[in-house]
Amino acid sequence: MYKILVADDEKVALLVLERELSDAGYDVYTANDGKAASQLIQDQHFDIVILDVYMPYKNGFELVKEIKKKSTNTIILLVTAYASIENAVDAIKLGAEDYLDKPYDLSQLLQKIAQLLQIRLQKSKDHKIKVTKNSNLIGESPLMKKIQSTLEKVKELTTTVLITGESGTGKGVVARELHSLGKFKELPFIHVDCASLSQNLIESELFGYEKGAFTGANSLKQGKFEIAKNGIIFLDEVGTLPLNLQSKLLTVLQDKQFYRIGGVESISMHARVIAATNENIEKNVETGLFREDLFYRLNVIRIEIPPLRLRKEDIPHLAEKFIEEFSLSMNHDELIIAPYFLECLQKYEWPGNIRELENAIESSVALCDGRTLKETDLPINIAKKAIQASNSQENYFKQSIKNQEIITILESLEKFDGHREKTANYLGITRRSLQYKLKKYNLLSKS
Ligand SMILES: Nc1ncnc2c1ncn2[C@@H]1O[C@H](COP(=O)(O)OP(=O)(O)OP(=O)(O)O)[C@@H](O)[C@H]1O
Ligand SMILES: [Mg+2]
Repeated sequence: MYKILVADDEKVALLVLERELSDAGYDVYTANDGKAASQLIQDQHFDIVILDVYMPYKNGFELVKEIKKKSTNTIILLVTAYASIENAVDAIKLGAEDYLDKPYDLSQLLQKIAQLLQIRLQKSKDHKIKVTKNSNLIGESPLMKKIQSTLEKVKELTTTVLITGESGTGKGVVARELHSLGKFKELPFIHVDCASLSQNLIESELFGYEKGAFTGANSLKQGKFEIAKNGIIFLDEVGTLPLNLQSKLLTVLQDKQFYRIGGVESISMHARVIAATNENIEKNVETGLFREDLFYRLNVIRIEIPPLRLRKEDIPHLAEKFIEEFSLSMNHDELIIAPYFLECLQKYEWPGNIRELENAIESSVALCDGRTLKETDLPINIAKKAIQASNSQENYFKQSIKNQEIITILESLEKFDGHREKTANYLGITRRSLQYKLKKYNLLSKS
């Protein structure tokens, strides 16, 4: 449900709009002067704000500035009885989406609102696509840099790659990254999740079948190896393949050809094979669960993705990306990240690796009420473990208070555009003591 604020000093206009907009399914808030509107704008997030230009205490233009400072995705519509073209231009320059003359036609207004919401939705979708496209494989740590350089070296080859790593470390992401880097980009990328298919299905999925090969085979079906053509076939969770299929796969890799089920003519295989597993495949070879010869066939180029706890430098970068993505998809304003929030993320061990981090951030962004993402927004087990792991002598309570102080300072600085004197006054402390705190909390660059 979209939240709308209507600010107008004309009581009747306000009442009419409130009723019409509520009937149209919006969650409507009203203010009948500039001060009340300003208060609501500070306290809450609105999808749309409809502002009368001339109101007591604060006019519409001032309010446009306040809204824009707080949130960039609020849609602003200005209305006034004293229409003049200069006003319209000024309003748009300040960041209002549109401008209406009073008296306006209600159905026109409703239509305009629906239109603007549609445009905003499209924009945020486009932005989201851009974000995910630009940053596939995040990682600044030496361990991840090494993986990136390996990918660069092998991106154009057809050599088989085996990707290993704990669950959630990004094996799927690395496989797709390899696909997107070189000439394979334009060719198929076929993902086969070996773990999720039953034994019979896997065979027909991989190799396809001829019409009439078995009951129910009413028409010819191409298998994944065939569909992959000269692109990439990604055999995910290859460690779960049953032994009989392991030998079939080995034959395909050796002979570079295969048969559809029930087929008599062999089909050449051209696809590059990338396999991944989160099992300890060497150990499975030792215990006989995985064929040694197949292992050597797959393990030509080996990429071992380290667990997140061994590359904690990557956490802030990953967190930032996820926060941006989830804020966008949940239509949240841009969020400030409290320093102690990041510290908690780095103290935790992440047994579920990046997937666990992604989920923790999704939940934090969803639960965050306000503009600052705090450690109290984290799933409680993570926050608690992070605190326990903390070597610092400070207890949770002390940290929390310190963190609250940091947030208050940051938000006040923002309110006064970094003006120290005004911020100190507002906080009721001296300028010197503000300076001291900025230094102590390492915030000098933020002011
Ligand atoms: N380096 C990375 N940069 C950005 N996102 C990542 C990175 N690594 C993993 N992710 C994200 O983390 C999640 C888990 O990644 P992925 O599914 O590739 O892990 P996996 O190793 O294949 O896990 P599993 O063994 O459980 O299949 C995905 O949502 C993915 O987008
Ligand atoms: Mg996976």
